[in-house]
This record gives sequence, C-alpha cells and structure tokens, in this order.
Amino acid sequence: MAAENMTDEKESAPACLAAMHLPVLRREVLNFFEPRPGLRCLDATLGLGGHAEGLLEKAWAAGIKDTELLGLDRDGAALALATQRLSPFKEQVHTQRRPFSECDQALREIGWENLDFVLADLGLSSLQLDSPERGFSFSADGPLDMRMDQRQEKSAADLVNGASVRELQNIILALGEEPLAGRIASAIVERRSKAAIKDTEDLARIVESAYPAARRAKARNHPATRTFQALRMAVNNEEGELEAFLNKIIGLLRPGGRVLAIAFHSLEDRAVKKLFRAQAKDCLCPAHTPRCICGHKAQVRLLTAKPIRPGEQELEANPRARSARLRAAERLERE
Ligand SMILES: C[S@@+](CC[C@H](N)C(=O)[O-])C[C@H]1O[C@@H](n2cnc3c(N)ncnc32)[C@H](O)[C@@H]1O
Repeated sequence: MAAENMTDEKESAPACLAAMHLPVLRREVLNFFEPRPGLRCLDATLGLGGHAEGLLEKAWAAGIKDTELLGLDRDGAALALATQRLSPFKEQVHTQRRPFSECDQALREIGWENLDFVLADLGLSSLQLDSPERGFSFSADGPLDMRMDQRQEKSAADLVNGASVRELQNIILALGEEPLAGRIASAIVERRSKAAIKDTEDLARIVESAYPAARRAKARNHPATRTFQALRMAVNNEEGELEAFLNKIIGLLRPGGRVLAIAFHSLEDRAVKKLFRAQAKDCLCPAHTPRCICGHKAQVRLLTAKPIRPGEQELEANPRARSARLRAAERLERE
C-alpha cells in the first residue's frame, strides 16, 4: 500500500472492529459504481474502509484489478485499521491523513489530475463513537475531547470552558438545532464558573439539568444528543470542511465521473443538495431575470432526484443508519 502521511498513532480498537463494521448504504453506493479498466476513486472519508473494500471487491469480481483508490481520513486510528482491512488490495490503495477540504492537494501529491468516482460518507465512524476515550459519546464517560484529528490543538473541553455564553448558544442552536440552546449555554457557563467541565458525563448531566422535567420525559433521544452533535461539528469545523470539499470536487471529476455523498445531518444534506442542484442547472440567475446574464452551464446531471434512505433490513441490522441520506451526481461530458 502506498501509505503517504500514514499515522503514527497506535490503534485504539481491535483489528476485528474493521471486519465487523457495517458501512451505511453499502449496496446502494456500490450500485453507482461501474467497474471499468483504469478507474481512479477517492474515498474522502475512509473510516474503517468498509465502502472502499466494497468498491475494490466489486472491481475484482468483474476481473478488473487496476482500479486505484485514494483514501483520506483525518483520524489516524481509522487510517491504521482501514490500511489493515485493505491489505489484500495494497498495490491499488493510497492513503493520506488529511482533511477532505484538501482533496485537490491530495490528488496532486500522488500525481492524479482527476477522478472517476468519489464518495464522502460524512460524520463519525463507529470506531470514534464507540471509543469513550475519544469523548464523542455522552453514553460512556470519557475526556471531553471530540477531535477527529488528534493532532489538532483545540478540543471540546477548550470550547466548552472557553467560549462565551453567546458563542455556545449560537453553536448549539445552529449546529444542533436545539431549541433550548440558550438555557443549555447558560447552564454550562454557570457550572464552569465553579470548576472546569472536563468529561462527557459531566457535560451530559449539565445539559440534562437544563431541560425541564416535562420535556425530558417526552424526549425521544437523550437531552444531550443535539448539544454533543453541535459541539463535535464545531470542534471539527465540519460545515467549513464540507463547503470547501463541495466547492472543489465537481471540478476534479472526469466527464462521466460520479460523486456520492452520505449525510446524517439535515444541514449537511442541504449543503449537498444545494450544490448538486445548482451544478445541474444551465443558468443560476435569480428567478424572473428576463434573460440569462450569468452564463452558467450545467456541470453535472443528478442521479438521485430524492435522497436514498436505508431500507428496513439495513435499519434492523444497523439502527445508527437511520438518518443517512445518499445523493449522487455525474459529471457531464462537455468540452
Ligand atoms: C462515517 S465514517 C466513514 C466510514 C467509512 N465509509 C467506512 O466504510 O468505514 C466518517 C469518517 O470520516 C472522517 N472524516 C470526517 N470529516 C473529515 C474530514 N473533513 N476530512 C477527512 N476525514 C474526515 C472521520 O474521521 C471518520 O473516520
């Protein structure tokens, strides 16, 4: 395996985890992948390598062994596990520990100009969620960390203990869509004035205490769900990462090349939908403009009019897939 920028972190999960991991919407993703000789693929969120493995297996099953795959992830532990999982395909795989906002630089580093197939499966991996020491989950105690890339300086503890009440409220409202954001931000600031908030259990309790008992009793999810999601997205600049990636990726596709995105959050799905729809139009002038003055030409055709959702069977086997939405587009053959 060409393992550029490989991790120096120790694996923080057993190797069998990679084998057990169920990639979300695997069959649906593979339906969009049509193996041909000489294809170059990007898995922008390699994670535990489940989707990447599926793509390479499908190509092999079709007798094609020259498909190349570049896998990016900013999590060193995930890259280590994915590298192990993809070892049967090692001559075909490149990995880089990088944020996907740098997809253009990643391609340049291995001398590629463009791509035939791109997948971004956004959000957290099960490895991250199930490792209490990573601090992503409120259901197991751990340090308030939440960094996908552990080389990054600022963790969730820095944000929770350092941001102003207004900043916390804005983050929890905008990224968590949490109606009680103001109460939660005030509860955090009040509690940290006595002692720093250091672990996930502490934070989950504070958020819970900001919820009126009646709402707590009615809530379908744990009261801390939205707050944890918002803080994780802020710590990892997930909105900014996605925007930068979307702005670059269509320009990196070869004519006929396909890009697929799986989002778990309505904000992310909206961003994907907006970009794909805009890039599928010939004109982006405001409605009622008498004649096109923007000159925009469609770059893609949509392959999914509506997002694809997991079926019942998948949800039974993997309830975490419930909010997944897959959208796909194909670069047009023009110029
Ligand atoms: C849902 S998991 C991907 C799972 C993968 N498709 C599989 O089959 O195992 C998302 C992965 O994307 C990584 N990730 C999230 N945001 C990223 C970013 N901006 N740049 C690079 N990797 C990112 C996370 O660290 C995580 O490992």
